[in-house]
Amino acid sequence: MTEDSPGERDPRSMSHQQLARLADHLEDVEVVAKTPQWPTSASSAERRTEKRAEWTVALWFVLSALSAVAFVVTYSIWPDEYVRPSEDGYTYYALYTPVIGGTFGLAVLSLGIGLILHIKKFFPDELAVQQRHDGPSEETTRLTTAAKLAEIGEDTSIPRRPLIKRAMLTAAGLFGAATGVLLIGGFVRNPWAGGSQAALWVTGWKPVNGETVYLRAQTGVLGDIERVRPEDMQPGSMMTVFPFRESDRGEKELLLAAERASDAPVMLIRLRPGTHVTKRPGQEDFNYGDYYAFSKVCTHLGCPASQYDSQNHISLCPCHQSEFLITASAKPVFGPATRPLPQLPITVNAEGYFVARGDFVEPVGPGFWSMRKS
Ligand code: FES
Repeated sequence: MTEDSPGERDPRSMSHQQLARLADHLEDVEVVAKTPQWPTSASSAERRTEKRAEWTVALWFVLSALSAVAFVVTYSIWPDEYVRPSEDGYTYYALYTPVIGGTFGLAVLSLGIGLILHIKKFFPDELAVQQRHDGPSEETTRLTTAAKLAEIGEDTSIPRRPLIKRAMLTAAGLFGAATGVLLIGGFVRNPWAGGSQAALWVTGWKPVNGETVYLRAQTGVLGDIERVRPEDMQPGSMMTVFPFRESDRGEKELLLAAERASDAPVMLIRLRPGTHVTKRPGQEDFNYGDYYAFSKVCTHLGCPASQYDSQNHISLCPCHQSEFLITASAKPVFGPATRPLPQLPITVNAEGYFVARGDFVEPVGPGFWSMRKS
């Protein structure tokens, strides 16, 4: 049999090239034109151009590999514990997210550019026409398909270009490692490292240097400081409040940070007089009369759980419909959340303003973080 009539020979005895031609034949594929980008008979000037193209592609893969390494190193060792804007090291802390985003983005971008350039500069120009077939594939078809894929691999010229091959494999490997670090990193880190100062224990409500932390209403204007007093609320109403310290007054960055901290928003709720409330043991004095303050961050996945129904005392999280019964210490009564909304201990100071008596006594936010090693 000849290569022009490949269907009559045992495919297991055929070479890759013969099997690839057989694959075309069986699949009714006609290769109309196939021109290599860099013919073997190229002149020395063309060879130099080819070498330059090879280096260009390899450099993009090297850049991707370096970015992936930078990402892994940054993600692993950069201190990401929260630092307030007024404290030393804030600039360093603020750079954490841009740096891990930038290095990971550059790794993806340069890997993509390397692949596109490689296809553009080294894949042969091929024009093929295929007739459509129905039905399952036979063994011969499967063998020939594998051979065809091998031939495509050879057409990429990667086996003949060790520089690109090594750079591409290094970039792909390190990019895969960086992705893996990103996926599992959050599970490897111990969120409780740091003891009582661990980021998950500390929110903007924590008193610092004995300074009073007021409950501040959100007015929509950053410099507009409106501390909340009991007479500001009607029975059955709810208000979102943020922490405020006098040392923050006039400090735009500090005020902004207090509003933007994801664990800061609190619902201040005034129940109607006489409403029966079941309090959590140990938190019997966290409220001030009919006023109760609960974290607004849903303990399921962190959405704002603050669609408050004052008739039924239910606060609903619109993301997955978890409902928290405020009169039962905000315990979940419906939906996927399994943990009550943490309650903020409050009181009214001598000036008549609501103040926090301390930070939350449990972590704010998704229930995952409540899992601890015993
Ligand atoms: S985030 Fe609130 S129910 Fe899912």
